[in-house]
Amino acid sequence: MSSRATGRDSAGPQKDPTDAPAAQAAAADREERVAFGEREVDARDKPGLVRDVFRSVAGRYDLMNDLMSLGVHRLWKDAMVDRLRPRAGEAVLDVAGGTGDIAFRILDRTEGGAGVTVLDLTEDMLRVGRDRAVDSGRFGTLDWVCGDAESLPLRDGSYDAYTIAFGLRNVTHIDRALAEARRVLKPGGRFLCLEFSRVVLPVLDRAYAVWSDAMLPTLGGLVARDRDSYVYLVESIRRFPPQDELVERIRAAGLEQVRYANLSGGIAALHSAWRI
Ligand SMILES: C[S@@+](CC[C@H](N)C(=O)[O-])C[C@H]1O[C@@H](n2cnc3c(N)ncnc32)[C@H](O)[C@@H]1O
Repeated sequence: MSSRATGRDSAGPQKDPTDAPAAQAAAADREERVAFGEREVDARDKPGLVRDVFRSVAGRYDLMNDLMSLGVHRLWKDAMVDRLRPRAGEAVLDVAGGTGDIAFRILDRTEGGAGVTVLDLTEDMLRVGRDRAVDSGRFGTLDWVCGDAESLPLRDGSYDAYTIAFGLRNVTHIDRALAEARRVLKPGGRFLCLEFSRVVLPVLDRAYAVWSDAMLPTLGGLVARDRDSYVYLVESIRRFPPQDELVERIRAAGLEQVRYANLSGGIAALHSAWRI
């Protein structure tokens, strides 16, 4: 699909893989064990394992989202795009954009006037998104890019806004993804992250724990025929940093004026920041 977004680097990744920081990061990865669901894996293996999860669920992903959240994920995504307030002519990057839910909302708000790059690690998720775009007659302003949030194949300072919805908990190194968000944003660009978080209401806390521990893997087994992937998703939610810690990590990446709002009592949280 064609693009009106400005940040795509047709020459491929901006960073030279032979430069010293990249070589150091690769060396560090060789030593590193990271969480993948309930087990620990070599950091270098995690992106492939995450891709397998989303490849497996891609065809049923949208249906599962509605079932798992009882449709509430739609309200959270609306809240994210309300907060973003996209304007016609802007270039927006939606990282871990999957099947296009955030991108479509942005286009609908701007009457197709924004250029949205949807970037995702999993080609199968993007394929479902592209099919949805065609089926709903959204042409021309979407660019679908297969890539990694930790190493964006995009130019410095090229986007007015960066969004990531339910994606950050899946990346291997959250801080690298946040640094990349800052890098590709223009000065004055905004950052928005929607993610599962920590429930702050005691009764809801217990009900949600039962729902996520018992019901989500069961639903995943019945509907997506992949219980294990939903065990991974539940565990990735549990391990993701709580609201205040994420604020600190966004700040440490060099983004400013970091705030968050809890959604549905903290089941999800919307973090926002600016690149000044
Ligand atoms: C739970 S889905 C969210 C999709 C969409 N943003 C939404 O809210 O419906 C998570 C997405 O993150 C993608 N993902 C996981 N790790 C990634 C990475 N390192 N870089 C880019 N995308 C990634 C997966 O392929 C998957 O499509």
